[in-house]
Amino acid sequence: MSKESISSGTGALGATVGTMNSFAGKRALITGASSGLGLEFADLLAAQKVNLVLAARRQESMEKLASDLRRKYGVDVLVEAIDLASPGAASRLKSSLDASALTIDILVNNAGYGLHGDFLETPSERTVDMIQLNITALTELTYLFGRGMATRRSGHILLVASLLAFQAVPSYAAYAATKAYVLALGEALHDELRPHGVVVTSLCPGHTATGFDAAAGATASSLLHLLTMKPRPVAASGIRALLQGKAMVVAGLSNKLAAFSNRLTPRSMQRATMRRIMGA
Ligand SMILES: NC(=O)c1ccc[n+]([C@@H]2O[C@H](COP(=O)([O-])OP(=O)(O)OC[C@H]3O[C@@H](n4cnc5c(N)ncnc54)[C@H](OP(=O)(O)O)[C@@H]3O)[C@@H](O)[C@H]2O)c1
Repeated sequence: MSKESISSGTGALGATVGTMNSFAGKRALITGASSGLGLEFADLLAAQKVNLVLAARRQESMEKLASDLRRKYGVDVLVEAIDLASPGAASRLKSSLDASALTIDILVNNAGYGLHGDFLETPSERTVDMIQLNITALTELTYLFGRGMATRRSGHILLVASLLAFQAVPSYAAYAATKAYVLALGEALHDELRPHGVVVTSLCPGHTATGFDAAAGATASSLLHLLTMKPRPVAASGIRALLQGKAMVVAGLSNKLAAFSNRLTPRSMQRATMRRIMGA
């Protein structure tokens, strides 16, 4: 980010970045808004009178959500059906919103999926497609919308990482690695963009009852079932942390304990525990 295009801010600007009570009147772009956590982010933000852009591939389920939210909360909701794993998708989405003169104040980078199973048994095109969505599209969207926010000296970006970002995970090897990237990017950008008036928060959900397992080709073990959260409180913890200007939040107490316990255990033990829990 060049100093010519975006003037740096210190002092008084710092005071504008931090705790807020509500996002009322702003506009949010939510990726992965056709299912799971995305539906909850949309409902929670619309309830705060935030106007929305919903982006994912399944147009029909987003259109249904959009009409429900318009009726319930009286907000403006636009639907963008797009495959964000296709090269150049982030730029096309940005251009489409620019053409409608829509300014995005809040970016919820939520679209993503996992691939469960042996790395060598998974066709490499599937792994690359996942990386394209979980890493490339998320990075490009953060860049494209983050620049506008920094120029306006105001904005909020939520990156959905995972509890799996904290250690290597046999049977979710590449997926967990994409989420380690998301968390590292998010934490670094939290500090880098803060002087420009932009809050970047990373949300780390543990196992959550969404379409995730089906998309990943996984069946949750009975131990994992015990630790599973509902999507509503997970999404709510992300929105709360974003409003509070936090760098990172792990959703739920048992997940917080799991993330903390990694500071006390050898990495080989973490991998063995994950192999057992994730049903490898
Ligand atoms: N559930 C969990 O246990 C868990 C735990 C930690 C982190 N997470 C993360 O939470 C985020 C949301 O997942 P979820 O749990 O809510 O699962 P989900 O119910 O399967 O939702 C995934 C969303 O991503 C969208 N998506 C997938 N591929 C896409 C593509 N190529 N282009 C555009 N959108 C795409 C899907 O929409 P379309 O299919 O309509 O495109 C859907 O809206 C993901 O980043 C996931 O990695 C989930």
